[in-house]
Amino acid sequence: MKLQNNTYHIQNIPVENLAKEFGTPLYVYDTEVIKEHLDRFREGFSSVDLRVKYACKALTNMSVMKFLLKQGTGLDTVSLPEIQMGLTVGFQPNDIVFTPNCVDFSEIEQAVEMGVKINIENLSNLEKFGQKYNGSVPVCIRLNPQIAAQANSEKVDWWHKQSKFGISLDQIDDIKALEKKYDLTIDGIHIHSSSVIMSPEIFISGAKAVFNIAMRFEKLAFIDFGGGIKVDVGDGNEVIDVIELGKQLDQEFSVFCEKYGRKLELWFEPGRYLVGNAGYLITTCVVRKRNGGTEFLGVDSGFNQLIRPMMYGAYHEIHNASNANGALKKYTVVGNICEIDNFAIDRMLPETKEGDIVIFKSAGAYGYSMASTYNSRFRPPEVMVEGGQARLVRRRDNYEDLVKNQILVG
Ligand code: LLP
Repeated sequence: MKLQNNTYHIQNIPVENLAKEFGTPLYVYDTEVIKEHLDRFREGFSSVDLRVKYACKALTNMSVMKFLLKQGTGLDTVSLPEIQMGLTVGFQPNDIVFTPNCVDFSEIEQAVEMGVKINIENLSNLEKFGQKYNGSVPVCIRLNPQIAAQANSEKVDWWHKQSKFGISLDQIDDIKALEKKYDLTIDGIHIHSSSVIMSPEIFISGAKAVFNIAMRFEKLAFIDFGGGIKVDVGDGNEVIDVIELGKQLDQEFSVFCEKYGRKLELWFEPGRYLVGNAGYLITTCVVRKRNGGTEFLGVDSGFNQLIRPMMYGAYHEIHNASNANGALKKYTVVGNICEIDNFAIDRMLPETKEGDIVIFKSAGAYGYSMASTYNSRFRPPEVMVEGGQARLVRRRDNYEDLVKNQILVG
């Protein structure tokens, strides 16, 4: 998003024009920003066979998924409908990985039928997998993130308590026993860990621990480092230098492959890194009011459309497209849901009046995909800007959408 002639533009289209054309609230995705992030992610890797699998849970719009397909990514999925969408968009089954957690084995069976790569994260499903397929279908093993967090000691305990994900390190012998019992073809090792890791050095020390474990598995084709790479959202918090990470990992992975005796693929499953900063929630300021000493700025959206501030205390930069350079004032920015619904408390923003267009940045990942119709409000439309052209890629909900599954009895 660029500031030109006192107003914000997405690929040279004034945000106010987008608001006028499509109405607010509105989600807008900028494909140039997606491409920039993907290029940056790939930049540091020069010798290894890097495969980026877009974690589409972050933003499950099929036009965005198609854009990423055209950029040569694969897909990371966590449910059967995500796989279905991926196949509809044109991803090859082989380029789709299914990394669910806590699912019934029948889902894994269906995913096998759909021909996608299977990632299993508990011993119980691994045993069932062995019983059903023996070694005929390759399987990837998801290990618990404590591996890569171990260098970050105060976080380790937290991980243990929080993490329902992956198979624990002290169960590697159990995995090996199942491998032997069913002649499993374990072709991948997966960890998803990186959001607690801020420096390439710590990441690398975690990666080395993974490489040591990988040496115990003879049939590997890839190692998957998951997603979780943070993106700079402008809150001043440190983010990992992905180019430097790429360079260091490229080197270490090559060393590992040499030791392993074969060139393996190196997988990542970024979601937010690719689409987080490419998305904007465009709203209109509809109410200005003062209660006590607080200046409230009410917009025509709410946590039903962007839940991250309320759910995680997440920071989203806010801008006024109608008065971009106005004098700064302190506001508490709220939504229209009938309970506490804060987007930001005591935020300095250019003076804002009713009717102004208010933009929430970094809303591409886990924005629309976590939206609901709470308070019986319509989910916003989604627009994708590609090659300077804005196209509607999902229409706004309507009343029929809201009630279509209800059965009125009595
Ligand atoms: N791979 C696996 C196995 C995952 O569990 C996730 C995300 C990803 C990849 C993608 O992670 P990313 O690169 O997008 O961080 N709703 C939260 C984020 C939940 C992430 C869950 N797993 C939020 O709004 O921040």
